[in-house]
Amino acid sequence: MTDLKDKKAIVLGGTSGIGLATTEMLRDRGVTVIAGGRRACEIEGVETVPVDVLDREALTQLFQAHTGFDFLVNAATGGARAIGPFMEMDLDGFQGSFAKLWGYVNSVRLGIPHMATDGAIVLFSGYPARKWRPGMLAIGSVGGSVEAFIRLVANEIAPIRINGVCPGLIDTPMSPLKGDARTEFYRKGTQGHPIARAGTATEVAHAALFLLENDFVTGSIVDVDGGAIVC
Ligand SMILES: NC(=O)c1ccc[n+]([C@@H]2O[C@H](COP(=O)([O-])OP(=O)(O)OC[C@H]3O[C@@H](n4cnc5c(N)ncnc54)[C@H](OP(=O)(O)O)[C@@H]3O)[C@@H](O)[C@H]2O)c1
Repeated sequence: MTDLKDKKAIVLGGTSGIGLATTEMLRDRGVTVIAGGRRACEIEGVETVPVDVLDREALTQLFQAHTGFDFLVNAATGGARAIGPFMEMDLDGFQGSFAKLWGYVNSVRLGIPHMATDGAIVLFSGYPARKWRPGMLAIGSVGGSVEAFIRLVANEIAPIRINGVCPGLIDTPMSPLKGDARTEFYRKGTQGHPIARAGTATEVAHAALFLLENDFVTGSIVDVDGGAIVC
């Protein structure tokens, strides 16, 4: 089992929601964390850097500045996502939703040459990758691609490990809804699930830490979804 203490992690998309929870959990376990997002922000005890995961030059500079780092976590959503029925979907919007995949791919490809050889990577897919949800076809296709990428690249990058967490519906700033509309959104979205509530960012981050810590896991996807996939 990898001892997290005194390791160094770069957490992209580490300034909000699931990424922020991962940043804070790693920091609290004694990891030196560099958290990146497009907007500048402050997180206690963490170095934050403004970086766009679609900007390969900026990513390269970030990784070069921290050569020898141990963990790469990428939770960046990437950009706008297309939502709605496939036959009504704007095709540029559908294509644009794949910014998340390209941000993940950029970070893995450009980050690995600067990582410790016993390092580990965690990415995030999403349950529409394996379960049809109304209006989520573009997001599901992106999530499916993320999971395929993780499984297929694991051989090529060993001994560095790579794994994914597949979140269910999680209450994060990704949803702009407020008040009753927000409560109703999560209630409706999880109705009928074995655990009928939205998950928390901390519950998802917990799985990311397991995947960073456990040396015997690579090419795996851990579902943290309240049973959304099985209902
Ligand atoms: N919340 C859910 O219900 C849910 C469900 C399934 C899967 N997921 C997945 O879980 C991951 C995290 O989602 P979340 O809910 O935590 O989202 P979130 O709260 O909206 O956080 C997204 C983070 O990504 C950063 N980001 C977005 N685009 C970026 C870019 N181009 N370059 C660098 N940073 C970028 C954001 O910061 P800036 O805006 O400042 O760049 C922010 O730190 C995503 O992959 C998402 O698809 C979430």
